Amino acid sequence: MKILDADATTRSLPFDALINQMEALFASGLVAPDRYHHTMPMLGEQDATLLLMPAWTETLGCVKVVTATPGNSARKLPAIAGSVLVFDRATGAHLVLLDGAALTARRTAAASALGARYLAREDARHLLIIGAGKVAAQLADAFRAVRPIETLRVWDVFPAAAERLAEALREEGWDAQAVSDLQAAVPQADIISAATLATDPLLLGDWLVPGQHVDLIGAFTPSMREADDRALQRARLFVDTKFATMEAGELKAPLETGAIAQSDILGDLYALTQGTPARTGADEITLFKSVGNAVMDLAAAITATLEPEEGTHV
Ligand SMILES: NC(=O)c1ccc[n+]([C@@H]2O[C@H](COP(=O)([O-])OP(=O)(O)OC[C@H]3O[C@@H](n4cnc5c(N)ncnc54)[C@H](O)[C@@H]3O)[C@@H](O)[C@H]2O)c1
Repeated sequence: MKILDADATTRSLPFDALINQMEALFASGLVAPDRYHHTMPMLGEQDATLLLMPAWTETLGCVKVVTATPGNSARKLPAIAGSVLVFDRATGAHLVLLDGAALTARRTAAASALGARYLAREDARHLLIIGAGKVAAQLADAFRAVRPIETLRVWDVFPAAAERLAEALREEGWDAQAVSDLQAAVPQADIISAATLATDPLLLGDWLVPGQHVDLIGAFTPSMREADDRALQRARLFVDTKFATMEAGELKAPLETGAIAQSDILGDLYALTQGTPARTGADEITLFKSVGNAVMDLAAAITATLEPEEGTHV
């Protein structure tokens, strides 16, 4: 079996190939089976969780194994650890082991780019990145695979983190600047992409201007929000899969209060890749909310297996 560490996993996932692979899987209607959540009791500390996310095509399969160990914060270790095992469907033979965190950051940015391929204006050049973490760092290259992105602005709740990401992007050759005034930065952007742990809306709908595409990655529990109700009400709404409406505060809360209706959610990545009308005018505001799923992991598993980078054979 080949083992790819975090850097090799990232290198094995070029965005062009990854986005096209993901598009093909969603267009084919492939559905991943249920994910399994197991609680693992711990002695003298909070229980740990084991999450298993499988998916397969007729030729390749993968399973993402993630552990969440809250007690690790006292040990000064990361709470989340993950890997993705790729196996041959014909024989079951294990082929490749990929770094879970690197794969997740990469496939998440790719899913946002796939949404933007259908929803952002063709001439979108200016990208505003909200957040400066692992996913945020992937967004510029991902969106550039689908739109002619030229300028980047980065905002983070911790200004030093925004500065660090902007500096890293400049070193890669980007025209990138950190910004401290989010409200002033929003109207200048063609695409606004948020990947944060925010629990209260950072992005207000009143700041949006016609023609923008909003991409919301962060909120994954009912108590998290990145954009307010007004942003949702002003936009044509799309999700990655229907689970986004059930799990994420972004949509769950406004659906419950009646700020938006289920009928306002116009489609998911299956519908978009199968021809549902996406953006229908240059002045529309579009919004894409993702929570992630195993089909995206499978797209990455297939891409990394077909485009092998240097790994270790054991
Ligand atoms: N949609 C998906 O498929 C998907 C996949 C992976 C991660 N995520 C989510 O995306 C988010 C970012 O993930 P990551 O791996 O980049 O995390 P990260 O920890 O690397 O980065 C988190 C970012 O959020 C910022 N932040 C922290 N607290 C905040 C707050 N209260 N308000 C605003 N910003 C805050 C941090 O400064 C940092 O920039 C997380 O919520 C994660 O669960 C979504």
